[in-house]
Amino acid sequence: MNAGNVRPVTGCRVCGASDWQDVVSFGEVPLANAFLEPAASYDDEPSYPLGVISCRSCRLMSVTHVVDPEVMYRTYSYVTSDSETITRHMEFVAATCRERAGLAAGDLVVELGSNTGQQLAAFARHGCRVIGVDPARNLAAVANEQGIRTLPEYFTETTAGAVHRSHGPARLILGRHVFAHIDDLAGVLAGVRALLHPEGVFAVEVPYAVDLLEKYAFDTIYHEHLSYFLVRTLDTLFTRHGLSLFDVERLPVHGGSLLVLVGRPEARRPVTDAVGELMAAEERAELGTDAAYREFARGVRAVREELPALVRSLLAEGKRIAGYGASAKGTTILNICGLGPDEVAYCTDTTSLKQDKVLPGTHIPVRSPDHARNDPPDVYLMLAWNYADEILRKEADFLRAGGRFILPFPKPAVVSADTVR
Ligand code: TMP
Ligand code: ZN
Repeated sequence: MNAGNVRPVTGCRVCGASDWQDVVSFGEVPLANAFLEPAASYDDEPSYPLGVISCRSCRLMSVTHVVDPEVMYRTYSYVTSDSETITRHMEFVAATCRERAGLAAGDLVVELGSNTGQQLAAFARHGCRVIGVDPARNLAAVANEQGIRTLPEYFTETTAGAVHRSHGPARLILGRHVFAHIDDLAGVLAGVRALLHPEGVFAVEVPYAVDLLEKYAFDTIYHEHLSYFLVRTLDTLFTRHGLSLFDVERLPVHGGSLLVLVGRPEARRPVTDAVGELMAAEERAELGTDAAYREFARGVRAVREELPALVRSLLAEGKRIAGYGASAKGTTILNICGLGPDEVAYCTDTTSLKQDKVLPGTHIPVRSPDHARNDPPDVYLMLAWNYADEILRKEADFLRAGGRFILPFPKPAVVSADTVR
């Protein structure tokens, strides 16, 4: 069912231009995190147009349509992962930001999109005062119960001003994997300017568009992810809003991300070599030209053909297939590749909120890891591929017993005990 609460993108949210290159279009797709209770019929399940366009002026990649955030975020089923990979990464982010922002005990750290407060807890352990801002009421309540003070709000100039009046300026403002979800970047950056200490740092972590382009990992394209950024695009954005990007680091987390550090121009922080180097690499890869995005679309088409073909050939050999990780990426790739319960028996996931529900669109059931151990498939389709190393280690017994995994990107491939390092 085509739902309301959605509008097509017109002007670019970074530079204001409206000269868009069409890149890919996936038709109507349900929201990636909209897990459902099992039902006899799913006729009224809402779906929304999904595609990507590229701004010929600043090379922001944007989804074609923006769904009302009230629909996606007020009750949110994505809980920050407590996987080894993410726990280690959060410690790394805390250490890097503490060092680069020169944080001392008692300094204020504010995080937007703070989810259940795991990242802020890493700062609280070092004596910082911490405040989270997250519109998901269910998650803000969990964070507050765990002692991480969290406002159940969007981060806007108004919220940021209120925090400033009550708690003073923030030495660090952090937005991890939330920035790409925000349509009104001007409003958020006005909030940052209102709250940031003159010497403070705004740290942003976003999926890197270069990783998306190189791996053809189109499953990161879903309605929540409005923007896919190059370093050059972020630099344009912050400059337009009176802020200055001074450092960037490329990280493997979530399939390839950037940690970007931003300050006030008056603070005159030296810009690190990494900023120029990544922008030069983007230029060398000709990411300012239409050809780069046509090549991405070609790679996406190839995976969309090859992955279902590989799954069907394994089924034809009598193999049983299940999905590993009911991630938002996973629901997206299954929907886009047209794989349903006839092909994928279930998806296993550690998140109790998702267990015993069905995936949006495909209605494949979600099962607990215990269920999966008692009823293992022959082959797992690796849906949470951003944790592939951790999962392949954890599933050594499954592999040793002859089990196999399909890795979807950049080209669908099967791995077994013999091929895993
Ligand atoms: P994320 O990429 O958005 O963090 O989602 C990963 C999903 O995969 C999340 O629902 C938890 C699930 N997962 C497992 O089920 N088992 C695992 O070992 C890991 C690392 C993740
Ligand atoms: Zn633009």
